Amino acid sequence: MCGIFGIVCASKRDDLGEVMVRAARRLSYRGYDSVGMATFTGNGQIDLRKDVGDITKTNAQLHFDAMTGDRGLLQLRWSTFGRPSTTNAQPHLTMNRDMVGAHNGNITNNPFVREDLQAEGATFESENDGETLVLLVEKYLSRGMSPEEAYTQVSHDTEGDFAQVFMRRDKHEMYAAKMGSSLYLGLADDFICVSSDLPSILEFTRKYVRLENGDLVIFDDKNYRIFRLPEQQYVERPVTVSDIDIENANKEPFAHYFIKEIHEQVEGTHNLLSLYDGTSVWQDFIEALDSADRVFMTGAGTSYHALLLGAYYFNKLARLPVFPSWGSQMLPLYAASVREGDLIVLVSQSGETKDLMNVYEWAKAKGVARTFSVVNNIGSTLALHCDGMIPICSYLEISVPATKTYTNQVLCFLYAAMKLAEHRGIPYEGITWDDLHRVPRLIQETIEMSQQPVKELASVLLEHPSMHILGHDMTHPVAMEGALKMKEVVYNHPEGMYSSEFKHGPLASVDEGYPVIFVSLPENEDLVLSHMNEVICRQGIVVHVGQPSKGYDKIAHYKLPIPAMGNPYLRRR
Ligand code: BG6
Repeated sequence: MCGIFGIVCASKRDDLGEVMVRAARRLSYRGYDSVGMATFTGNGQIDLRKDVGDITKTNAQLHFDAMTGDRGLLQLRWSTFGRPSTTNAQPHLTMNRDMVGAHNGNITNNPFVREDLQAEGATFESENDGETLVLLVEKYLSRGMSPEEAYTQVSHDTEGDFAQVFMRRDKHEMYAAKMGSSLYLGLADDFICVSSDLPSILEFTRKYVRLENGDLVIFDDKNYRIFRLPEQQYVERPVTVSDIDIENANKEPFAHYFIKEIHEQVEGTHNLLSLYDGTSVWQDFIEALDSADRVFMTGAGTSYHALLLGAYYFNKLARLPVFPSWGSQMLPLYAASVREGDLIVLVSQSGETKDLMNVYEWAKAKGVARTFSVVNNIGSTLALHCDGMIPICSYLEISVPATKTYTNQVLCFLYAAMKLAEHRGIPYEGITWDDLHRVPRLIQETIEMSQQPVKELASVLLEHPSMHILGHDMTHPVAMEGALKMKEVVYNHPEGMYSSEFKHGPLASVDEGYPVIFVSLPENEDLVLSHMNEVICRQGIVVHVGQPSKGYDKIAHYKLPIPAMGNPYLRRR
């Protein structure tokens, strides 16, 4: 996905590099293939440093934190055009060496723009589309165009979704264009900065401006102006003062944010229940679900797994069938049949994920269906623009792999399914409000009782680059989420799938010592035991995650027990 950041200060700062490294660390989840930084050193020289690797490795080699200057920009790359290499790393210099820029996103017509520029005499140093964009901006600026005119031409020449930062030697200012990828402007006391995400801005200031697609912002250390490229006019955008205190967000006493946020699930679920119980914040969601002809729910990664579990809750408790999809799958799978009266629920922690923005923009342009967002970031595009929004109140998520936001998304759906059932007068069984309010305590117990068995199991699984994680019924999305978490954290290859499907082909991958993890509900014990036996026959390793029982205890080689809950709705990973 890549990340960009740019900053303009009043005069030379000896700590500019340190400031930029802090921003890069916040953005590090956006790209580990290469990192590059460029500053104007104060005497008009450009200091450009870039190399392959993540921010920790490249900073150790190139000492970004020692860079100085009055302006700087940086990029963290996740390769799309051109393999990870120093030359393909961004930022890129212009041909005249007077300007420098970097982008994130994709210029989908890059090969054609590049050919056109080459035909006009441009020479490229890399295969990267970021360089194409830099040379394109140079082409128009060097013709004497204003930034507004140059970027208008650039917007006509390029296709794709991206954002770019750019600076030049002869002007104490910076240009940043938002053309489909996220971009925020930060207003600090002594500088102005721009970044791909909000947490990296909040690192320095709580005052920010959310930019819109088609915005070009031209800024120095004190002033900025926003020019709308499509309408060719200047606009004012509201300045938001965030109440998120990122400076005080620290991981102590935990080793890293991932484990900290696992522990924060206890407080997070408690906060969500308190908010929902004490207000009618969920009311609009219930009404939207109840009045819709059909409900489509879409999300990416972890958010997809949460909504898939939500689909089980809505079906089982409120008799509401839901059409689930990945964000990128929603339109190919359902667009032709979405009609007036339908509801599209967009589920996202960040509220900015591009695949979901595409669905939102399609729905808005067509005007066919209502949109409702289930989000954590309540200042995000989806939160602000959908017809309705319900927050999941997980506060700031800093760890790249989602944990506490998944739990709160799931809890939000369970709460909504119970409310909807009551609203519709549908009697449901298997869960009570008291059960729901036991969730924070059950999470605490699960964390405590898992410590030792998790350590033992981890030392076994570490030996295996590949494994399957199987779930059945409501544990299927949990198995998928467990597999995603392992991929994101361990970089190995666990495959999450529906356990009954395992025998239709994938079972062939089991041989001596191959691990298969079963996430189970007591209700499905007979079925799961038979699936476990299929693995045992092939001398595979069987791991059981779930409420203990005599059957599982007898068969499974390793066990990760969770507390007995007495109902089927609260099982988790
Ligand atoms: C992916 C992340 O890019 O986006 C996943 O790697 C995340 O971890 C997914 O779950 C969706 O993000 P969001 O913010 O829309 O929930």
